Amino acid sequence: MSEEYLNFKKECAFEIDNQACDAMLQSSTNNWLLNANRKKYSYHFEWLGRPIIQYPQDMVAMQELIWEVKPDLVIETGIAHGGSLIMNASLLAMLDYCEAIENGEMMDPKKPKRRVLGIDVDIREHNRKAIEAHPMANRIDMIQGSSIAQDIISQVHEYSKNYKKILISLDSNHTHEHVLAELEAYAQLTSVGSYCVVFDTIIEDMPTEMFPDRPWGSGNNPKTAVWEYLKTHPEFEIDKSIQNKLLITVAPDGYLKRVK
Ligand SMILES: C[S@@+](CC[C@H](N)C(=O)[O-])C[C@H]1O[C@@H](n2cnc3c(N)ncnc32)[C@H](O)[C@@H]1O
Repeated sequence: MSEEYLNFKKECAFEIDNQACDAMLQSSTNNWLLNANRKKYSYHFEWLGRPIIQYPQDMVAMQELIWEVKPDLVIETGIAHGGSLIMNASLLAMLDYCEAIENGEMMDPKKPKRRVLGIDVDIREHNRKAIEAHPMANRIDMIQGSSIAQDIISQVHEYSKNYKKILISLDSNHTHEHVLAELEAYAQLTSVGSYCVVFDTIIEDMPTEMFPDRPWGSGNNPKTAVWEYLKTHPEFEIDKSIQNKLLITVAPDGYLKRVK
């Protein structure tokens, strides 16, 4: 890495710390998040033609993490329309492509090395068909069932035995109990240096009346589960530099880095 690049990154780190301490910026961001959430902002994007229920900022963060970690397996809970599966699969395809170029090899698109495993309790037929018809489908596997059911957990652990560097994304049922059970089941599969990303921790920071038809709310959500999990799992740390950089994110305190 060039000295110029390292100096540029140092400058960025300073600016990121600075924006995180800016009370006015934080408060206008929180206000924006509150209003955007009321408009269902996160539902309005697509990745390579599939609806993805994420904020664009978090999508960029996932791209940065996947490039940094270079996982050979991404495990995701919560498939919905398949947008995040397709996004992660396409980023893994780029890693395979870059690796082939570096090694002077031809990449065989029919034999993908890196894969994505998705788990959802209800894979709707029209979503399954669209995912299976997508050009990225041959690096995606899906399991239908509750992510916290013992037989599903066993299947995921068995599947993951064939991989060396694993990144986890949890985005299914957002209650405290469910996310804590997912963390207990899957976070240990995260490779050292990789991440377990817990989405929708932002629910803790929103008024509970914002989710009238949902079992989650303030005090009962992915962020409270993360805090609980971290009490007994020092091998993970919240990577605050990511939320400080994004500002607009649905995963504050949700980017967990496995440090040992
Ligand atoms: C927020 S959506 C996932 C969005 C997707 N990750 C994306 O970025 O486009 C939540 C999904 O979690 C699924 N879900 C709910 N409860 C679940 C459970 N117990 N186990 C697995 N998936 C569950 C729902 O069926 C729904 O498809």
